[in-house]
Amino acid sequence: MTELGGFAAGGRPVGPGGRQTDEQDDLQRRSAPTIDTARYREVLGHFATGVAVVTTADDDGPAGFTCQAFNALSLEPALVVFAPSRMSLTWPRIETTRVFCGNILSESQEALGRVFATKSDRKFEGVGWRPGTTGSPILHDALAWVECRLEVAHDGGDHLVAIGRVLDMGVGKGHPLVFYRGGFGRFEA
Ligand SMILES: Cc1cc2nc3c(=O)[nH]c(=O)nc-3n(C[C@H](O)[C@H](O)[C@H](O)COP(=O)(O)O)c2cc1C
Repeated sequence: MTELGGFAAGGRPVGPGGRQTDEQDDLQRRSAPTIDTARYREVLGHFATGVAVVTTADDDGPAGFTCQAFNALSLEPALVVFAPSRMSLTWPRIETTRVFCGNILSESQEALGRVFATKSDRKFEGVGWRPGTTGSPILHDALAWVECRLEVAHDGGDHLVAIGRVLDMGVGKGHPLVFYRGGFGRFEA
């Protein structure tokens, strides 16, 4: 029987023997103040972001989910970070393939942003895409895309903090899709 830690179903990191990791213990200890979740959403909803669809592909086909918590992390080395929920059905597949593509949506792709925010095994129906060098789907008409190898995932409360090393990237045409205060919008300079 192995004593190595890893990720349990749903992506929860576990230590040897299924114990909580020190990281999880630390986060729980520090979460002492009671924060109203609705207020937290309302306040942090004021942080406008772009919208990404993070994809991968395995023997069961393509998978992906809409992800706001996606960003550049490091220049040298080139790293990106995204935060999948522990409830995400796509995350365990990325954890297995160890590769993913962050597709940054353009303002013409709001419908995709909505579809990929659902739980369905038919999200890719009628969606144009091509496999990148890692096999991960690059969505047609994405504003930009970045293909990565998964390096590590850390505890992030009810989410994980996943870090990927950039392997390939590109840009398309158009303007970004924006998410602000719970709704989709457009960028105006
Ligand atoms: C604009 C927007 C941003 C989102 N950002 C995230 C995110 O950063 N992380 C996350 O886990 N889910 C995020 N979601 C929710 C997921 O897209 C949603 O839970 C989806 O059903 C997950 O799909 P999966 O379970 O097939 O992976 C976001 C949804 C929307 C509409």
